[in-house]
Amino acid sequence: MSEIEKGEFEHFMLKEIHEQPEAIRKTLAGRIKDGRVDFPDLEFDNVFKNTGKIIIAACGTSYHAGMVGRLVIEKLARIPVEIDLASEFRYREVLWNPNDLVIVISQSGETSDTLAALREARHNGIKVLAITNVPGSTIAQEAERVIYTHAGPEIAIASTKAYSAQLLIMYLLALYLASLRDSYNPVELEGLANELLGVDAMVESVLQEQQHIKELAEKYHKVQSIFFLGRGLDYPVAMEGALKLKETSYVHAEAYATGELLHGPLALIEQGVPVLTLISQDKLVDKSMSNIKEIKARGAVVLAICKENLQEHCQECDEKILLPRINPMLAPIVAVVPLQIFAYYMALFRGNDVDKPRNLVKSVMGD
Ligand code: G6P
Repeated sequence: MSEIEKGEFEHFMLKEIHEQPEAIRKTLAGRIKDGRVDFPDLEFDNVFKNTGKIIIAACGTSYHAGMVGRLVIEKLARIPVEIDLASEFRYREVLWNPNDLVIVISQSGETSDTLAALREARHNGIKVLAITNVPGSTIAQEAERVIYTHAGPEIAIASTKAYSAQLLIMYLLALYLASLRDSYNPVELEGLANELLGVDAMVESVLQEQQHIKELAEKYHKVQSIFFLGRGLDYPVAMEGALKLKETSYVHAEAYATGELLHGPLALIEQGVPVLTLISQDKLVDKSMSNIKEIKARGAVVLAICKENLQEHCQECDEKILLPRINPMLAPIVAVVPLQIFAYYMALFRGNDVDKPRNLVKSVMGD
């Protein structure tokens, strides 16, 4: 079957969700050897060694990959990272330093705002590294250096496998920078690199939850609105889950950092309001569950995407989707998968055109 045929799947989106283990394997291929990350032929070590600050610019789903990237690069490589919506980037006064590095992330390599951010950086003499899925795209051509995600062609408008591949690059880059700059315990870096080699199998195991997630979507597909919550690395995943749901099912979805719940959104919680919460960060679980108790007390229906070893903390949640035991730092790679499947089936049960949601395009070009 060619990559642009649906084969056994009813829609490209579902096919691409299932292609994620393969996209992950292809994106990792040749990039981890003996517990060390390498980007053969990138030849950017001098820039990486001297980088004082990284600015990531991207749109949509790619921006959410960048949010994860920020947290892991700061943690492992100890480099300050700013993240910008590329659509806002050109409207702020960036205070450049010559040793800044801009990273643009774009599945298509053609998004006009991301391209504009790239051009703005280069115009100011700043080095730009692009992460894209499309060789020969404008962004690939204009950046100083490119790291390719090898997700294969993505046809559905809602991005799934390209996002997973972007996440993988974020982790690889963080590990690479950390070992180059000697900023983190090398044994732990090696451990993380080896764990990355096993995440494809973990994603496979989450895909086995499809029937359960489909049943949840059937049960909840008539809701008018869903809140998504996450803390720490779960927050970008919540944002991506809410975006996926909006794009495909047209259900109003809003993501909040769990701690922000008390600062306004709590007023919207009343009997029967669905709230989906990510629980994958072992050290943050108690804090998050105390917030969840607050919304449960106001009648919210809580759906938890919860790591297997944390499920006893989620007993009060109304529904649970379990994730395999994974290093919390790598959890975003597996935690997004149930959200993609949920969005897919919500769209299907609502009778939407899953692969081509109304008003949306795969790549926003033009001014
Ligand atoms: C459009 C697509 C999204 C995508 C965004 C950024 O809005 O519908 O799925 O995340 O553009 O696209 P890019 O190709 O730059 O990653």
